[in-house]
Amino acid sequence: MMAGRGRNSSAAGGLARHIPVMLSEVLEALQPKDGDIVVDGTFGGGGYAKAILETADCKVIAIDRDAEAFALAGELADAFPGRLIAMLGRYSEMESLAASEGVTRVDGVTLDLGVSSMQLDQPERGFSFAQDGPLDMRMGEEGPTAADLVNTLAESELADIIYIFGEERRSRAIAKAIVKRRAEAPITRTGELAEIVVGVLGRKRDDPKHPATRTFQALRLYLNAELEELAKGLCAAERILKSGGRLVVVTFHSLEDRIAKRFFASRSAAGPKGSRHLPDAGGEEFAPSFQLINRRPLEPSNDEIRGNPRARSARLRAGERTDAPAHPLDLTALGVPGLGG
Ligand SMILES: C[S@@+](CC[C@H](N)C(=O)[O-])C[C@H]1O[C@@H](n2cnc3c(N)ncnc32)[C@H](O)[C@@H]1O
Repeated sequence: MMAGRGRNSSAAGGLARHIPVMLSEVLEALQPKDGDIVVDGTFGGGGYAKAILETADCKVIAIDRDAEAFALAGELADAFPGRLIAMLGRYSEMESLAASEGVTRVDGVTLDLGVSSMQLDQPERGFSFAQDGPLDMRMGEEGPTAADLVNTLAESELADIIYIFGEERRSRAIAKAIVKRRAEAPITRTGELAEIVVGVLGRKRDDPKHPATRTFQALRLYLNAELEELAKGLCAAERILKSGGRLVVVTFHSLEDRIAKRFFASRSAAGPKGSRHLPDAGGEEFAPSFQLINRRPLEPSNDEIRGNPRARSARLRAGERTDAPAHPLDLTALGVPGLGG
């Protein structure tokens, strides 16, 4: 079992637990069966893992890159003895993580993207513009913080990140304001960054969306390389799934959803040509490696959105693995943005 990172490892206990999004739809698409092995690549508050373990007498390999996520895993492991394996790491590494437990093929993979409520609601993690905290935003413990980025990157790089990963039209003005402010003193708090963005964009009284939403999303996605992780994770799932195994992905914004959509389109006969063999970006032909479970992405019901507003932008895409070989990873074809091109 994983240990917490010490920053506030007991925090999960005092925080409202993450409400799993589109849970019944995830189970319906995944269809876990007795004897299955399922990878839950984004354990978070364990909502999916628990429901999967309750649905069938299966095993779950639970991965999260955030050690604090596993504060709740002990309870679950006790409730389902020998059936939950909690592993600290990135889901793009699911093959080597599973292999370290002697597992080379699995029956299902779920990915529920983004941050959990526990991460978002803990100001010390630095994900929230609503509550002031250190400007951190790292899901794991390694690498630079968001403060490192805003205080050291060139203005043009900051503008590109905010534009590409936040789809923020006023990215240049925001980057300029950041650079002006940091010349006075380093920017170290989420509240400070949110205030700088509000200073540029203003705040409309009737707009429920905070003006800093897109800038915070951009820094978080870039810092944690989340879109690259997603593309690599989808391809890892494609390689590790048995024929007949199922992949279920829940995305929360257009950049994530575009990658999931392109992945399934390029791997299924629902690709641009609808042929039995699909050209990849290099023009090479591959047999479809997935059959789509839903032609169109599923969305949460109005009831779910009323009960859990964080579900409102969720989109679920799912596919069943065929016996065709996995296609090669092509980050550009899957729509993973890079800086400078
Ligand atoms: C939305 S939450 C998952 C919630 C979970 N399905 C539940 O029902 O409680 C997303 C989780 O995925 C983790 N995560 C995000 N990207 C990851 C990655 N590349 N590898 C492993 N974990 C990741 C985050 O740390 C977070 O805990």
